[in-house]
Amino acid sequence: MNEEKITDHIRSVRREFSEIPLLEHNVHYNPVEQFRLWMKEAVEAELLDPYAMCLSTVDESGHADSRVVYLRDITEDGFVFYTNYNSSKAKQIFNNEMVSLNFLWIELSRQVKIKGKAYKGDSVLSNDYFSSRPRASKIGAWASDQSSELINRKQLEDRQKEMETKFEGSEVTRPEHWGAIVIKPEYFEFWKGRKSRLHDRLVYTVKDNTWTIKRLSP
Ligand SMILES: Cc1cc2nc3c(=O)[nH]c(=O)nc-3n(C[C@H](O)[C@H](O)[C@H](O)COP(=O)(O)O)c2cc1C
Repeated sequence: MNEEKITDHIRSVRREFSEIPLLEHNVHYNPVEQFRLWMKEAVEAELLDPYAMCLSTVDESGHADSRVVYLRDITEDGFVFYTNYNSSKAKQIFNNEMVSLNFLWIELSRQVKIKGKAYKGDSVLSNDYFSSRPRASKIGAWASDQSSELINRKQLEDRQKEMETKFEGSEVTRPEHWGAIVIKPEYFEFWKGRKSRLHDRLVYTVKDNTWTIKRLSP
């Protein structure tokens, strides 16, 4: 397709969403449980990486900054992912805890937006997850100074070799600078695409540990 055709295609393509509704009386009163149900359905539908989520943070100049990370757990404390604590995202979080998450399960016409506060997870959680990772990923955590500038690809590969030599014949321990970040959710929006753009949007807000559900116009 030439460039003009692609532009036309992007401008004009329209898709009707399936008609399965999202109604107040059909959802769980607890949004975490509702999220677990949608995640279960996304996994059962065999979507590719249903636990991939867009994480938005705020940088020092007040810009939103987004990237995809993998949700690895939902604990009593919140939504957990793992990263390098020296990365841009982690520095932004330690400077400003306000974050948002977005899950898109387009094959199911579903989107979930979550807003919350992020903080460093405890070392038990991080050790536990780190030990479950393949050895190559463990080496990678040592080799990559995430978000810092590299001269070239070779510099990274040399660093990987260096780490392989360092840990040869021994267990790869978790680097102090790598671990869990937990997001305590304070706001959820469950979005379900419907016909004629009359989509369903149910928002949960929390006060004194009680969640309230509201419907938003699409
Ligand atoms: C599908 C997918 C999953 C990813 N999962 C993670 C993850 O769990 N943790 C992570 O640190 N980076 C993950 N990344 C890489 C991030 O998107 C990002 O490039 C990296 O963390 C550096 O981001 P930063 O410079 O904004 O800190 C993933 C990327 C993709 C496309």
